[in-house]
Amino acid sequence: MKGKAEVIIGAQWGDEGKGRIVDALADRVEVVVRYQGGANAGHTVIVEGEKHVFHLLPSGMLYPGKTCVIGNGVVVDPDQFLSEIGELRERRKDKARLVISESAHVVMPYHKIIDEAEEKRRSKGRKIGTTKRGIGPCYADKVNRIGIRVGDLLAADTLREKVIENLEIKNLLLTRIFNEAPIPFEEQMEKALAWGQQMSPYIGDGAAIVNDALDKGRGVLFEGAQGTLLDVDHGTYPFVTSSSASAGGACIGSGVGPTRIDRVLGVAKAYCTRVGEGPFPTEELGAVGERLREAGGEYGATTGRPRRCGWLDMVALRYAVRVNGLGGIALTKLDVLTGLDRLQVCTGYECEGKLYDILPPRLPGAENLVLHYETLPGWSEDLSGCRKIEELPVAARNYVQFIEEKCGVPVVLIGVGSGREQTILSGL
Ligand code: IMP
Repeated sequence: MKGKAEVIIGAQWGDEGKGRIVDALADRVEVVVRYQGGANAGHTVIVEGEKHVFHLLPSGMLYPGKTCVIGNGVVVDPDQFLSEIGELRERRKDKARLVISESAHVVMPYHKIIDEAEEKRRSKGRKIGTTKRGIGPCYADKVNRIGIRVGDLLAADTLREKVIENLEIKNLLLTRIFNEAPIPFEEQMEKALAWGQQMSPYIGDGAAIVNDALDKGRGVLFEGAQGTLLDVDHGTYPFVTSSSASAGGACIGSGVGPTRIDRVLGVAKAYCTRVGEGPFPTEELGAVGERLREAGGEYGATTGRPRRCGWLDMVALRYAVRVNGLGGIALTKLDVLTGLDRLQVCTGYECEGKLYDILPPRLPGAENLVLHYETLPGWSEDLSGCRKIEELPVAARNYVQFIEEKCGVPVVLIGVGSGREQTILSGL
């Protein structure tokens, strides 16, 4: 892996365990870069029994000697950033060097208020179930070219102009449309200047760091947040997040060219989960869903919401292989399936007589969808101590092989527990 640029993305609806995969692979690289999303993410890493949940910081932060970059494509909530880095410092775990791109956009307090207010106004069936972290409104301002960037926090005059420009509109929106209190200019300005002061040691040229490392033949991991099916272009729109969560986002969000990427690794759970609203064809609303949720601890790392759970969906996974150009799959939480007699895997969708083995651009409504499942035998053995593929029970190995055959790419890493060491590297 030395000298390689590898993108790690979520191959489902997020929460696949990307944090632990990045943590497991970070050892081999010099730089870890987050390139999209914001504090809506929740990447959990458990090292020596100690749990760390990162919302904004890259999951490589626990390694001494690494450089972690928050790329230009990320939207940064300064309060969240400062609290995360402060906590890490307190635990004496701020081992890596950290740089935030000056071109990353700032999530302002009004973004969070608008996010929540817009969600409240959406009618039933139109709600997205956002994390209320201000993600959509912040990206909207970025694309609308009125956003405030991290570098602006260091330039009082520019900052003043931008805060005035934004509050003029945002306060009208808050008071006249959403019935919320306006944000006083001086208060906001003071806060933003204080953010700049506290963040200044970290602010720099993220793209230069990533490109320099690649020029020198050093390894870089691009850490995706959310998942392919939440991608604003390629996901189940409009029930998506507002960034490019698929592999293409890595280039845009970090400032490297596509020709520099060597490989894309997709992280997929051995089953499926989704938080928030939107289509989820293999969702299990009964006992199986409940069993997966409890065994897998399927509660949101950011919002604490119970995740919707269901069987593995190969139609969606094949789509993720195509959209991201996956070279391999990291299969997480295989241990959660232990104890289930039979495992179902969805291998096709049927709609109005047409069979789909890969997700169509527009997903037909659940009422028009017939799902084709294949049933595989389960296993009862504890997997948590397995470190080699040969140590897995035959039924578990068959399950992994079935996935490889159905999606045409190798499973190169298997997670059998939440600890850093509970990983089977089968092809990396
Ligand atoms: P937003 O990103 O907060 O705007 O939320 C949009 C949708 O993406 C909602 O359904 C969220 O539940 C979902 N979402 C956002 N971030 C994550 C994540 O890190 N994991 C899983 N779902 C997420």
